[in-house]
Amino acid sequence: MLSEQVQAKTDRELKKYPADQKQSAVMAALRFVQDEKGWISSDDMADVAAYLGMPKMAVYEVATFYHMYNLKPMGKNTLTVCTNLSCTLCGAHDVLEHLEHKLGVGLNEVTADGKFGIREGECMGACVAAPLLTVNNKRICSHLTSEKIDQLLAELDKQ
Ligand code: FES
Repeated sequence: MLSEQVQAKTDRELKKYPADQKQSAVMAALRFVQDEKGWISSDDMADVAAYLGMPKMAVYEVATFYHMYNLKPMGKNTLTVCTNLSCTLCGAHDVLEHLEHKLGVGLNEVTADGKFGIREGECMGACVAAPLLTVNNKRICSHLTSEKIDQLLAELDKQ
């Protein structure tokens, strides 16, 4: 069952749509679940489906289509490195290598202390700021260099 907080946020979202179009809030509901738990399990997807009155498979299709949803625990800070064309041309793979080296984990893995996970993402519509990554889909860190990555990791490590 969705938590009271997720239900309340989803209810606010539902006010934006006609009463017979509750499925329109599926992306928001999934985001609220992920904000609360850090990832979205298949049970969570079933709960979202029940709450919005839509087939479980339809929720699964949305959750697996968009790269911003974590379908397994990805740490307190999910670092999603854009590896689409512009970012790759500007050094996205150097960013990934640096992160993997500093954190001692590979792509789609989480550090032993659970603080960091590394993911790959699609274009975030900010190619002018390449190479970049996002932290928990909330914060974009742009024009990355090894020094900037080290500063970011130190900052997040303290939180
Ligand atoms: S290619 Fe990375 S933001 Fe567009």
